[in-house]
Amino acid sequence: MNLSKQQIEQFDREGYLFFPGLFNAEETKTLTDAVPELYSRREAYNVREKGSEAVRTNFAAHLYSEPFARLARHPRMVKPVEELFGEKLYMHQFKINGKMAFEGDVWQWHQDFGTWLNDDLMPEPRAMNVAIFLDDVNEFNGPLMFIPGSHKKGVLQAQHDLRTTSYPLWTVDNDLISQLVARAGGKQGGIVSPTGPAGSMILFHSCLVHASTSNLSPWNRVSVYLSLCAVSNHVRRFKRPEYIAHRDFTPIECLPDDCLLKDYPVDLPWKNGMPASAMETSLDEILQAA
Ligand code: SIN
Ligand code: MN
Repeated sequence: MNLSKQQIEQFDREGYLFFPGLFNAEETKTLTDAVPELYSRREAYNVREKGSEAVRTNFAAHLYSEPFARLARHPRMVKPVEELFGEKLYMHQFKINGKMAFEGDVWQWHQDFGTWLNDDLMPEPRAMNVAIFLDDVNEFNGPLMFIPGSHKKGVLQAQHDLRTTSYPLWTVDNDLISQLVARAGGKQGGIVSPTGPAGSMILFHSCLVHASTSNLSPWNRVSVYLSLCAVSNHVRRFKRPEYIAHRDFTPIECLPDDCLLKDYPVDLPWKNGMPASAMETSLDEILQAA
């Protein structure tokens, strides 16, 4: 999939592109059907909501689930990012976020690159998030919110929030968010929220400030996020476990466009469980050496 000149300009200006209904119902179903079994696993890669059994986020399914391994090589998700960066990509992070009905908790205001820089020592914001909705997303089930153009501000000051939710995040404070929203148009477009059917895709800049509210509706809002990093921009530190921030910088080779509907063979290195090394971090090594 090639981006038009107009789309490239829009991405540069706003920091995101929205593709409603890019994947059809049959394609999306191959993914949605696999989620309950993945979420039922008692594994470190399933992070549950605070005080609840609901899965907040599942990591690295592309290494142990066939449909998600195919999605991770899908040209509709990978090619536009390759084109924008002019370089091959590797998978920095792969997650299936639950945001389950009644239980899905907030994601505080943040930039993804803040975490990738502070935790993983990723040199530049040459990594992109590509989201695909596995459920219909509406105004009630906790859609992503963006502050258009906020990526132009570069890396913002952030605090490491270990308290609000079950997942640590480098978050941006309320005063700065208010300023950014006012700058982006205040009540007229200062916050946008792409909503649409299952199968819709969003591509967003790693410095774009985003958040989502809790899901008090009776509808799940499961979405997959590929975080694709330019190979030359690979992370320089392994502070987080490998299932969260990957250490294999091999360039992604795309499958054909119909890969969600045909059984193309894919490698599943973690099919029989995560290797112990995936839990090791460079901080462990430092602590052991001390
Ligand atoms: C994220 O920012 O990584 C996830 C946000 C969401 O799923 O709402
Ligand atoms: Mn994020």
